[in-house]
Amino acid sequence: MSDKPIALASDHAGFDLKEELKSALSKAGLAVLDLGAESHDSVDYPDFADAMAGAIGEGKADRGILICGTGIGIGIAANRHSALRAALCHDSTTARLCRQHNNANVLVLGARVIGAEVAKDCLTAFLDTPYEGGRHERRVAKLSR
Ligand code: RB5
Repeated sequence: MSDKPIALASDHAGFDLKEELKSALSKAGLAVLDLGAESHDSVDYPDFADAMAGAIGEGKADRGILICGTGIGIGIAANRHSALRAALCHDSTTARLCRQHNNANVLVLGARVIGAEVAKDCLTAFLDTPYEGGRHERRVAKLSR
C-alpha cells in the first residue's frame, strides 16, 4: 500500500464516525489527512466529496473514506469526479469486493446505517485488499471514459 496518508471527510452526520475511524487509523500507525467536517454543525456533503476529489486528484492521498448519514449523498457526489471510484459499503464483503473487482479508491460509509464496529471491519477490508486486475481491467477502464 502507498505510504501517503488516508484521507477522511464527512458531513455533520458522519462526524462522530470519522473521528472514531481517524483514531483507529492513528492507533494502527497510519497517517491521516482530515478534510473535515470539524464539528456537528450542519454542512453540505457535496463539499466534502469535492475536498476528497481535490486531495486525491492532487496526489495528497491515494485512498479515502467518505461518510455521511446514509453514505448515499456523499457517494453520489464523489462519483461525479473522474479521479474517484467511490464504493458505498455496508459490510466487510462489499468492502473487500470493491477493492478486488472495482479498484475503488474511496470507501463510503453511512454513519446512521452501520455501527462503528462494522465500519471498522469495512475499513480493514478496504485497506488490506489489493485490486485483482485481470478480467476486471477492461471494465474498470470503462469507468474512466
Ligand atoms: C444529512 O442530514 C443527511 O442528509 C446526509 O448526511 C446524507 O445522509 C445524505 O445522503
